[in-house]
Amino acid sequence: MRGGPGGRGGPGGGHGRVSVRDSEAQRLINESAPKVPHLLRRIGELFRPYRAKLTLTIVLVLISAGLSVLPPLLTKQAFDIGLFPSSGTPDFPVLLKLVAAMVLLWVASAGLGVWQTFLTATVGNRVMGALRTRLFGHLQSMELAFFTKTKTGVIQSRLQNDVGGVADVLSNTVSSVIGNTVTVLAAVISMLVLSWQLTIVAVILLPILVIAQRRVGQVRARIATKTQESLSDMTSITQEALSVSGILLAKSFNQQPAEIARYAKENENQISLQVRQQMSGQWFFAMVGIFLSVIPAVIYLAAAWLLLRDIPVTAGTIVAFTTVQARLTFPLLGLLRVVLDLQTSQALFSRIFEYLDLHPAIADRKDARAVDKAQLGRVEFDNVEFRYPDAGPETPATLKSVSFTIEPGQYAAFVGPSGAGKTTVSYLVPRFHDVGSGRVLFAGTDVRELQQDSLVQNIGIVSQETYLFHATIADNLRYAKPDATLDELVQAARAANIHNTIDSFPDGYDTVVGERGYRLSGGEKQRIAIARVLLKDPAVLILDEATSALDSVSERSVQGALDTASRGRTTIAIAHRLSTVINADVIFVVDAGRVVERGTHAELVAAGGVYANLFAEQSRSALPTPVAVDGD
Ligand SMILES: Nc1ncnc2c1ncn2[C@@H]1O[C@H](COP(=O)(O)OP(=O)(O)OP(=O)(O)O)[C@@H](O)[C@H]1O
Ligand SMILES: [Mg+2]
Repeated sequence: MRGGPGGRGGPGGGHGRVSVRDSEAQRLINESAPKVPHLLRRIGELFRPYRAKLTLTIVLVLISAGLSVLPPLLTKQAFDIGLFPSSGTPDFPVLLKLVAAMVLLWVASAGLGVWQTFLTATVGNRVMGALRTRLFGHLQSMELAFFTKTKTGVIQSRLQNDVGGVADVLSNTVSSVIGNTVTVLAAVISMLVLSWQLTIVAVILLPILVIAQRRVGQVRARIATKTQESLSDMTSITQEALSVSGILLAKSFNQQPAEIARYAKENENQISLQVRQQMSGQWFFAMVGIFLSVIPAVIYLAAAWLLLRDIPVTAGTIVAFTTVQARLTFPLLGLLRVVLDLQTSQALFSRIFEYLDLHPAIADRKDARAVDKAQLGRVEFDNVEFRYPDAGPETPATLKSVSFTIEPGQYAAFVGPSGAGKTTVSYLVPRFHDVGSGRVLFAGTDVRELQQDSLVQNIGIVSQETYLFHATIADNLRYAKPDATLDELVQAARAANIHNTIDSFPDGYDTVVGERGYRLSGGEKQRIAIARVLLKDPAVLILDEATSALDSVSERSVQGALDTASRGRTTIAIAHRLSTVINADVIFVVDAGRVVERGTHAELVAAGGVYANLFAEQSRSALPTPVAVDGD
């Protein structure tokens, strides 16, 4: 088993990944046999929008094939009636006409060739482009859980390597198949005309080739599947290791050699697979070559056999026959190659279709409604139980009978130990996951009955990990509102306490933030994220402990931004520092997936429960620590 636990011994590496991938490969191989006609039909469907262009291509190929018959005839004419007519002297005017016709013919077929290439290139690339956008669009509709359990590189690889891998097939197949078929058919017809007996001898063994070819095709498809998987692993490694976070991690743990080894190992595997894939057809083609070269000799034997039985075969027939048969070799090989390529690409197509066939677990119902404006801002959990899809059924649910109601305009805080389920609660409101049982109500309606667009439009999220695109600050802010004016950007940035900082950058709002916003400090990033959400101006704001990683000055600055942001809207604030939630309208204490306490700060402190203890602890540690004096 390749991959193995080597390379990176850390979490997530090693066995699990490899076994999952290999079983996937196995399943594809097992299913590939009965799926083939189905697959061909689906590939055919991709070409449907280009029927007109394809028909034109076929016509052009046929015309080219027809034209290729003419030059030998013209040559014969040039000799017989131009150069050496029966009159004895060369007929110059006739010869001139014939030469002109020849030149015209070559120009015409060259032109046709270019046109044909243009058509096939256009169709091939359009089909591939359409496939890529379709796949991208489909992936956009997949639920969050799909992305949390699939490596980014693996997804990218399907889009790039798999769709890219079928490009050649898509653009070359059509013209190659038609062109070569025409030539092969023409040759076979000429052969039949010359001698049907010899034709039988010449073609009787061809079915063996077809059978052998099928076998080679299957082997190749299997190797192709492995090659694509290995490519996908390489993309994952590149994507993981060469990102800012990956490099930071590798540098801080001195793991660059391990990363290089991991990459080199997969690369080695890729090389051997590529060699195997390229070699897999070679014996077959060598065999076909030998086979086709041997046929003339067999024809001589067959002719002798016929002659011995008094069946007339002239020397001319044998020469003509073997000449035509020799001309068959090249297009026949071409045809076999194309069919082999098609078979190989089926492996890639099944990988693409496999993703296209995934059903988004979360999608709008047919009768989904827009959010009811009357109760906008109301968020309610009704006896919600939730378990992450990839958590086994034996693990306890992440959220257990969670019920609460947040009224429009309220500031609700969620506090509790790490891993209690606070972020999970915030994911269920915009329906990033579906609940196991119970209901999540937004503006009085079960979120499963709402249009996702409409739901998400009313929710603003500042997540625990701020994500910014590698673009300017202005671009990042406009993500929330593409048509926002600079004034609006400034207004939002001011409200988020970040305008002065942005203004102090040499490029101001045109500062490029770098990959994931790495050029900015944690607090700056968070405040930009807050400004971004302010531009969206949602009815419900979810803030996932945006202040946890900050010093007290930055925290106050971010807190100020949050206070402004939460004004006039329902706010769900998840916090670790209880000092930030003292003024909340209601505080929910979450522990091990349950809401264990609820009330205002004063009520909870008075109750003397979990919250009161936590608060006492945090207040104590916030006091200045007494400095120990040496030599006391
Ligand atoms: N995608 C996932 N698949 C499986 N389990 C998950 C997933 N995401 C989170 N969990 C688990 O669900 C539990 C709750 O996680 P959650 O992120 O909601 O905690 P939290 O209260 O926000 O913690 P923190 O304060 O550290 O952010 C944790 O035990 C976590 O391991
Ligand atoms: Mg969290």
